Amino acid sequence: MSQKLSSSQLTALAQQFGTPLYVYHAEKIKEQYGKLKNAFRNRDTVFFYACKALTNINILKYIKSLGANVDCSSINEVKLALHAGFTPDRVLYTSNGISFGEIQEAKELGVIINIDSVSNLEKFGKAYGHSYPVGLRLRPNIMAGGNIKISTGHAKSKFGIPIEHISEVTAIVEQYNICVHDLHIHTGSDIKDVAVFVKGIEVLFDIIPHFKELKFIDLGGGFKVPYQEGDSETDMEALARKVEELFAAHPEASKLQVWFEPGKFLVSECGYFVTQVNVIKQTPAAKFISVDSGFNHLIRPMFYDAYHRIENISNDAPEDQTYSVVGNICETDTFAWDRKLSEVKEGDYLVFYNAGAYGFEMSSNFNSRYKPAEVLMKDGEPHLIRKRDTFEDLLKNQIEVL
Ligand code: LLP
Repeated sequence: MSQKLSSSQLTALAQQFGTPLYVYHAEKIKEQYGKLKNAFRNRDTVFFYACKALTNINILKYIKSLGANVDCSSINEVKLALHAGFTPDRVLYTSNGISFGEIQEAKELGVIINIDSVSNLEKFGKAYGHSYPVGLRLRPNIMAGGNIKISTGHAKSKFGIPIEHISEVTAIVEQYNICVHDLHIHTGSDIKDVAVFVKGIEVLFDIIPHFKELKFIDLGGGFKVPYQEGDSETDMEALARKVEELFAAHPEASKLQVWFEPGKFLVSECGYFVTQVNVIKQTPAAKFISVDSGFNHLIRPMFYDAYHRIENISNDAPEDQTYSVVGNICETDTFAWDRKLSEVKEGDYLVFYNAGAYGFEMSSNFNSRYKPAEVLMKDGEPHLIRKRDTFEDLLKNQIEVL
């Protein structure tokens, strides 16, 4: 049975810790990781949690305890992962547009590095030659993903080395005798269609023969999670069968270990964002519910037009009222238009589902509001894993010169 927190559990947490509040359910992360491991049980596959989705140190430690590795998108994420206890060989740094200094730092820390530009590859070759194996982040020219803003593999995307530059890459690899041990692609986020991953694998198969020291194929992340009622997630069993088939048909690739970098798939559904209703405002156009939050805390609806299921957990009557759910900040911050909810009263708790990935992580102090607190529910026990900001936090790094 799928792991879920109940309305009464969430209400109790809101009362204990206040709102707005991010709640993460550890056992749900375990369930999701179990799906991945189980689907790929017949193939040598390693999962690197794309920690950009949620970097709370307790989440990192928990995911480490499950046996997953970690994928990072900045040197600070690398340092957080090491701080959480991952050994460097379990930390992958898939870089994008970073300075060579940061690559040097990652190398000094001993983590695995995916390089995404010809320019940095050349600098890497000059500095380290064959002495430190490295991965190449390639752009496969595949359009995929739930939204153009989260599509990364298409022909106009800034990410990766365009696949058509492969001869330039091989020339540099040869010139400096670089040890390329992995090839990486990541086509986007929120991808349901298994065929997209198949296309990516096929692109990589074409270029595998250029690299003699390959050990790994890194297919990135981007698995879909069910944000809407009736949605389904990427079918992992179907994907695993496809991957097995494809590799079986390509003997030159069959010895390669497969890597994935799931972010949302591991931590999206584990997350609940609990808010409280400040004001109800009836206007000719809509009945607005203003909650004690805004896009400063959950930016996905405004930034990606993302849909998050919302429920009034203070009233279990039928969802037969129509509302626009908005925030309390100084510009338009609509969470949902014309959404059916059970009748809402001021003071009720509204929960946003599927808020674990890129929720807290993309939050800000806009309007000088505090960032929400975070709670981890594990083995039925709540643990406060981040305090709500305080007024001092707003001033912490400011230097008063006047
Ligand atoms: N690997 C790489 C190289 C990535 O760039 C990403 C996400 C992932 C893995 C993990 O993708 P996931 O499994 O989480 O879809 N803020 C957006 C998503 C941005 C994803 C950026 N890269 C959102 O809230 O939808």
